[in-house]
Amino acid sequence: MTVAADYGGASRPPAGGEASPEKLLTPVLSAFWDQPESWTLETYRRHEGYEGLRKALAMPPDDVIAYVKDSGLRGRGGAGFPTGMKWQFIPQGDGKPHYLVVNADESEPGTCKDIPLLFANPHALIEGIVIACHAIRSHHAFIYLRGEVVPVLRRLHEAVREAYAAGFLGRNILGSGLDLDVIVHAGAGAYICGEETALLDSLEGRRGQPRLRPPFPAVAGLYACPTVVNNVESIASVPAILNRGKEWFRSMGSEKSPGFTLYSLSGHVANPGQYEAPLGITLRQLLDMSGGMRRGHRLKFWTPGGSSTPMFTAEHLDVPLDYEAVGAAGSMLGTKALQCFDETTCVVRAVTRWTEFYAHESCGKCTPCREGTYWLVQLLRDIEAGEAVPGDLDKIADIADNINGKSFCALGDGAASPIFSSLKYFRDEYEEHITGRGCPFDPARSTLWADNDAHLGVNA
Ligand SMILES: Cc1cc2nc3c(=O)[nH]c(=O)nc-3n(C[C@H](O)[C@H](O)[C@H](O)COP(=O)(O)O)c2cc1C
Ligand code: SF4
Repeated sequence: MTVAADYGGASRPPAGGEASPEKLLTPVLSAFWDQPESWTLETYRRHEGYEGLRKALAMPPDDVIAYVKDSGLRGRGGAGFPTGMKWQFIPQGDGKPHYLVVNADESEPGTCKDIPLLFANPHALIEGIVIACHAIRSHHAFIYLRGEVVPVLRRLHEAVREAYAAGFLGRNILGSGLDLDVIVHAGAGAYICGEETALLDSLEGRRGQPRLRPPFPAVAGLYACPTVVNNVESIASVPAILNRGKEWFRSMGSEKSPGFTLYSLSGHVANPGQYEAPLGITLRQLLDMSGGMRRGHRLKFWTPGGSSTPMFTAEHLDVPLDYEAVGAAGSMLGTKALQCFDETTCVVRAVTRWTEFYAHESCGKCTPCREGTYWLVQLLRDIEAGEAVPGDLDKIADIADNINGKSFCALGDGAASPIFSSLKYFRDEYEEHITGRGCPFDPARSTLWADNDAHLGVNA
């Protein structure tokens, strides 16, 4: 069994030198979240708010696209697609309306950055929207927000109202000739509506299910018109790039993964929260500066980017958290949702809960995902309860293989990820559930529980 063996808090200095927050954190989007009424236009303007917009409006739209492309900004919604390149795909002079749709559906287990960002600093998104719409020559933008988060919905509505009143939205913005309307749309709470084409169907009033591609949204998106769909954090990062410069942005992170980003630390850690740092920071550095795992416990497994990204173990504490290094280590940076689980967590139980989520959220459009996630849940529940037979491990691997890459959208791949990665690192823990006819972590099975540390090979 692979066990978190090595995370010892401050016992091992991080690769980047001292783990002081001043050295490692780069608060930009989160720079003034702790100030009173951080969400108001007044506070935003005190922190150079809407200065990036002034610079952008003085530039021709194509130059803004080229600038964002040169900055190297990559989409923060999961796939890391270059933002400027996505904007460049919008055909120009086609006579059709162009749309910007901001994806604020944030529903992935562990992913929790866009909602705090919108709650604390909504004007960063609104300013980014105006810049993006100037660049792609759009007069209508939509923010598709997860509807359950009513306080954020209210705050966003108020921020949009403030922006209209101050002349940052509406007609002839800052005398530039740009007209722009922003509509805040509350979704009904389905994970699949975060998939960009399902989101567009939902926004058009249909049931949210992914669309066949091509055509891609850049050609035929919302109302069959050219559409850019971007994540909240992607768009909110644009004003600072315009204001402080692409070189400043590139001074952080690496050549292929430049800039700052929000890492969401959660789970069995001493201080969960949002940590804004350059791409390429490691989990060890983040844990060292934030107080480590909860007292007396050690890291067992973690996700680099939410439940859809293959899990890592303590072996991966020093993997730079950027797109290339996480990919090379066998996972994906995804949404940078660092969910950390300590040695008290049953990996079978965790994977079963995630799989229940995917089965519940599967939209049912394609058979591998609809049927596969259902059967995975049945088998995982049997394994967790000690009612499975040895062949069931090969069966769940086989079902996951039939979902992965064979489903209509990436939800299916995401559902397969925890199965593959947990079997890779913790197959013996699955086997113990079968041979021991139950969960070794179940407190009711007192002999195993009492011997938990020895069982896990951990010196607590
Ligand atoms: C099932 C599923 C759910 C998704 N949920 C979100 C989401 O909540 N927010 C988001 O920005 N992207 C989400 N995505 C990714 C989007 O499809 C899309 O890639 C992203 O919004 C593009 O923005 P970006 O280029 O700025 O990263 C999801 C994808 C899938 C397959
Ligand atoms: S993979 Fe799942 S969520 Fe995606 S289209 Fe198929 S059934 Fe729907």
